[in-house]
Amino acid sequence: MTKAIILSGGWGTRLRPLTCTIPKSLIPIVNKPVIERQILLLKTVGVKEIVLAVSVMSEVVEKYFGDGRRLNVKIHYTDEKYPMGTAGAIRLAEDYLKDDNFFMLNGDVIMDFDFSDFLLSHQKYGGIGTIASRIVEDPSRYGVLIVDKKTNQLYKFLEKEEYSPPEGKIIPMPINAGVYLLEPTIFSYIQPKKKVSIEREVFPRVANDNQLFHYPITGIWKDVGKPLDLLEANIELMNHIIKNLKGKVKNLIDDSVDIDPTTNIRSPCTIGKDVVIRKNCSIGPNVIIGDDVYVDKNTKINNSLIYNEAYISENASITNAIISDNCLIGKNVQLTGEDENLIILASFVKVDKDVKLISKNHQSISYCHHEIVKESIE
Ligand code: GTP
Repeated sequence: MTKAIILSGGWGTRLRPLTCTIPKSLIPIVNKPVIERQILLLKTVGVKEIVLAVSVMSEVVEKYFGDGRRLNVKIHYTDEKYPMGTAGAIRLAEDYLKDDNFFMLNGDVIMDFDFSDFLLSHQKYGGIGTIASRIVEDPSRYGVLIVDKKTNQLYKFLEKEEYSPPEGKIIPMPINAGVYLLEPTIFSYIQPKKKVSIEREVFPRVANDNQLFHYPITGIWKDVGKPLDLLEANIELMNHIIKNLKGKVKNLIDDSVDIDPTTNIRSPCTIGKDVVIRKNCSIGPNVIIGDDVYVDKNTKINNSLIYNEAYISENASITNAIISDNCLIGKNVQLTGEDENLIILASFVKVDKDVKLISKNHQSISYCHHEIVKESIE
């Protein structure tokens, strides 16, 4: 039976300050940690044993998943004292994975494609590794794959800085989607007890040995590297879930919510458990609210993520923002991000009443956990 390993031990520096208190792999995507979504997908093809390659904030991840019983899978954890790189991390799990091929997932991507067909493709071509590839319009921020369209062989693995588009024109190219099927032979390419990157140091050598293939995927896929990706991934996945429900459902709202009838919910929105929303609010579109959140009257929220146990006082206005767990937003507060430059509040941030935070001139505004915001930025 094929097993899986999920990489969940990076620093997540680009998602700071959110990742100062929440490990990147537990960051919620439509109110579920990104790797929980991956585990559920792996289960659909019969994977029952999963290694979580943890390092940064490992204890938080271990506390959340335990031995996996809640999700009806067996979960093992690696002992990685400090981040050993994407290949160094899997080398530590060799004992669990040495008997059969296995899935390897970057713990920061959302996707929904047919893993059983991926496995069939890997078995058909017979190399040491198969990399799920995704065509993107602008490949410049990813590693680009040079592939043979007929044989699916992957010849070259070009890192961001190594790829220059022909005549400087941006053209769609296949990129590494961060999901792999690997044979245990891969371990012989990874030096033990060393920090090693699978993308930079291992795959190029496997490709050189003609042992690397790709599997093109379509449909929803996104890596959650930066805050804007995180917001977009939430919105894309929410739309994908709603579309798959194929009914008249336009929002994902838990039965336990208490929403005043005068409040307007503009779809699509997701609202978690035990959320209270008072009168005359306007929520949405593109809002995802976690559990136990309180929103007082006359508040407007759109294009934003609000994590668990946030408290939002009356007359607040929130646009293009990510508000982490347990934040406290005072009366009449205005948080307005620009399209790409979001307002980001890490856990337990308190914004005093009447404060206005308006991002301008391509600068996002962010606060670290437990900060108290007293001054406006306009
Ligand atoms: P940035 O610091 O923002 O680049 O994020 P990151 O640390 O998550 O790095 P990156 O986006 O390249 O990581 C892709 C995936 O690999 C994520 O799921 C990370 O958690 C994971 N990862 C990256 N480096 C390591 C590592 O050294 N050890 C382990 N166990 N996982 C890692």
